[in-house]
Amino acid sequence: MSRVGIFGAGWVGLVTGACFAELGHQVVIRDVVPEKVDALRAGKVPFHEQEVPELLDRNADRLSYTLDVGEVADGADFLFVCVDTPPTYSGDADLSRVWTVVDELPRLDERTVLVMKSTVPVGTGEKVRVGLDARGLDHVGYVSNPEFLAEGRAVADFMSPDRIVIGAFDESDGDAVETLYEGLDGPVVRADVNSAEMIKLAANAFLMTRISFINEIANVCELTGADVTKVAEGVGLDHRLGPHFLRAGIGYGGSCFPKDSLALKQLASNSGYHFQLLSAVIEVNELQKRRVISKLKRHLGSLRGRRVALLGLAFKPNTDDMREAPSIVLSGRLLAEGAEVVGWDPVAGGQALPRSVEIAASVLEAVDGADAAVIVTEWDELRDLAREDVREAMANPLIVDGRNLLDPEAARAAGFAYEGIGRPIAETQPPPPPRRPDRELSEL
Ligand SMILES: NC(=O)c1ccc[n+]([C@@H]2O[C@H](COP(=O)([O-])OP(=O)(O)OC[C@H]3O[C@@H](n4cnc5c(N)ncnc54)[C@H](O)[C@@H]3O)[C@@H](O)[C@H]2O)c1
Repeated sequence: MSRVGIFGAGWVGLVTGACFAELGHQVVIRDVVPEKVDALRAGKVPFHEQEVPELLDRNADRLSYTLDVGEVADGADFLFVCVDTPPTYSGDADLSRVWTVVDELPRLDERTVLVMKSTVPVGTGEKVRVGLDARGLDHVGYVSNPEFLAEGRAVADFMSPDRIVIGAFDESDGDAVETLYEGLDGPVVRADVNSAEMIKLAANAFLMTRISFINEIANVCELTGADVTKVAEGVGLDHRLGPHFLRAGIGYGGSCFPKDSLALKQLASNSGYHFQLLSAVIEVNELQKRRVISKLKRHLGSLRGRRVALLGLAFKPNTDDMREAPSIVLSGRLLAEGAEVVGWDPVAGGQALPRSVEIAASVLEAVDGADAAVIVTEWDELRDLAREDVREAMANPLIVDGRNLLDPEAARAAGFAYEGIGRPIAETQPPPPPRRPDRELSEL
């Protein structure tokens, strides 16, 4: 069994550490945020991700947490880089945390392999290799081993990978990393470092392309009377296409897709190529989030003074991650239109939202007195939203289903005005009267 050091106790670092410990390896996880390390030492996981608490608990004797770079490097056979690579203002990936790791590496006497799991632009490995050599660490190996886990099912994705990508300068380093994953059932793709880096970026870009594609089909469906859920079913059964990532909705968010698409676009531009398709994918996604506003206006007229409940705040279900969540754009747009916004989510807090957004403790509290309820994230708790107590609590029973979670017929039969994404649109009723006197509205 190996000794594995991990830089970064975020989604990728903690899941990687927990899973390697489960596979029998000895793992030391280092972060730079003292509160995170303290919480982990006290047995608390700093974010919501199913199975992680149980894994950390079960393997506690093979896991330790530290702030100290010397401790994570001491005797390590592998050092995994799992730090964040957020976008810079220009959209390029900010690699400053990656470089901090490289710069902070202590003298390493034994052969160690530095393994890059963070998502980085193509060419990063070559630059890190030069950086390591310049620091006299030419005996430290370098391997690109991008991570493909999806939040909300991260442990399952790690333990049953679609593939394990390993790009090495020195094949023996690649072989060593491959042995770490022994016990997992998934094909291994061996590649050069540049190609391994590109596999991650291309896979994400392709998934985003499918999302924006089906969202545009949905928008055309709305204009032509087709139902995108049926269209996606029929398209997805084509074995050349497959069913995944063909769910129309209000666009993708999260910690990866938005930043990785920008980073790939910028990488292409910096290399002299205008990646037109990816630019369109990004633009379609931005517009898609905002379509909710026009749907609300169709039913309510002006949104000034209207109370709108945003149901689901995290960027997807089964996580509390709010990074680039559509709820942030939506709440900002609704407030700008003069609406009152109340949000609900079973696990995510509202800290990332504008301060004037009220946070409700339950779905019923959120919809109480609301002129519209918008399903922003497809939490299971919302599957029975079209029920009597919800209808009675709302001032105006309108559901805009941003994730096509509900059955339109059933919702309408239950007395709601219902609008999904890319589904046939029913006749609208005249907007309900404003809920407040004009004098009060002008004070908003
Ligand atoms: N979240 C995902 O679903 C996902 C999936 C695949 C790949 N990735 C990629 O993996 C990387 C990490 O993503 P994440 O979501 O885990 O990020 P995160 O922000 O949740 O975690 C990163 C952690 O690294 C820590 N850190 C920063 N500098 C450090 C240093 N010098 N030493 C030790 N720790 C340091 C931060 O404090 C933070 O806790 C990113 O490049 C991301 O694009 C993420």
